[in-house]
Amino acid sequence: MRELLNGSFQGEVTVPGDKSITHRAVMLGTLSEGTTNVYQPLLSQDTLDTVKCMEKLGADINVSEDKIIVNSPGAEHLLSPKNLLYTGNSGTTTRLLMGLVAGLNLKATIDGDETIKKRPMDRVTVPLKMMNAKINLFENKFTPVEILESELKGIEYHMTVASAQVKSAIILASLHSKITTVIHENNKSRNHTELMLKAFGGDIEVDDTTITVNGGKKLTPVDVTVPGDISSAAFLMVLAAIIPGSRVTLKNILLNDTRDGIIDVFKQIGADMTIDIIDDSLEARGNITVSYKTNLKPFHISGDIIPKLIDEIPILTVLSLFLDGNSTIKDAEELRVKETDRIMAVTNELSKYGANFKIYEDGFMVIPGNLKIPDEEFKSYHDHRIAMMLIIMAIKMNHDIKIDNIECINISYPNFIKDLKSLRGEQIS
Ligand code: S3P
Repeated sequence: MRELLNGSFQGEVTVPGDKSITHRAVMLGTLSEGTTNVYQPLLSQDTLDTVKCMEKLGADINVSEDKIIVNSPGAEHLLSPKNLLYTGNSGTTTRLLMGLVAGLNLKATIDGDETIKKRPMDRVTVPLKMMNAKINLFENKFTPVEILESELKGIEYHMTVASAQVKSAIILASLHSKITTVIHENNKSRNHTELMLKAFGGDIEVDDTTITVNGGKKLTPVDVTVPGDISSAAFLMVLAAIIPGSRVTLKNILLNDTRDGIIDVFKQIGADMTIDIIDDSLEARGNITVSYKTNLKPFHISGDIIPKLIDEIPILTVLSLFLDGNSTIKDAEELRVKETDRIMAVTNELSKYGANFKIYEDGFMVIPGNLKIPDEEFKSYHDHRIAMMLIIMAIKMNHDIKIDNIECINISYPNFIKDLKSLRGEQIS
């Protein structure tokens, strides 16, 4: 950590592949008969847990450094797993898998680690039960999830939370019977399942916030090249914006307009940022360059933009501490049910530096002021994005921080420290 202090960051980084897209490519590959190549995937704890679950359903999967090859007998030949489907720390694996297994008319039990056991799963079982799924939760809310064989029927469902995990679970459940499901989103959430399913030959139509899925169509494999994860790039974008003398280019980053809220925030604050778009048919992508600049303005985010940057709020809070005025984050109550309660974790940990917050149930106001170097140890709450947020904050404060658990970074960005070091280049003595 010490070698990352007292200096600027310069150069190019290829951040790891997008987590949401990697999960979905492995899952849709498993539902398609034949071979799906997933290039430049994210290889991290979460996505490897998805790989293991798909193997237990009957896919033959080969993982190498820059490629995952999924060989599958196709949806109708997948089998009920003999053992537990273990989803580790991954909410996406857990929730999408519930819809995927129910839609295949299979029987399985799904469970994850201690943090997964505390996250609400009834948001998925409510629509799945309307579809006739036989599915039970512990205390009607938590894992383990027990799914029994059942024939599903189509539903018309009005989403009550802006959650791509819930939406995707319903879509995956609708794929294999001759049924029609219509989903109405209350707020548009990330649309990778919709885009990818169409490419795999699924019958899916999207009209603004209404999604119609006609099941019973056989999926065919498509090769997927995974763009860099904007949620990982976010940490390095903020680093470059707040550390004097820095200039960082993030290569090949996902720029899907359901995920690019951080770009809007960087425009709002007047950051020095350029974006070069790269042509792509499936998912928008581009190179993002951010340079340090003084006198950046505060930001105010609420409503429709929140789902587009929900995972970036911890690191955007660090940014807000160094802006010229108070920033506000509202309508972000979903933060309370992420890997940890991120409103609590962000404000608790950054308060140790003397940061001032006005906390609401659905967000907070950040009041920049004099900061101090604390003696206390920091907590990541076993949340990868809190751990990485704390490291960027410590670099800005030139503070050799102690964090109780930083291994959790492996959940989404195993090379985080290595990439930070590479941006210090020859400055490291
Ligand atoms: C994800 C959706 C989001 C996001 C999570 C990944 C996905 O969660 O926070 O990190 O891949 O579908 P919600 O669907 O709960 O909003």
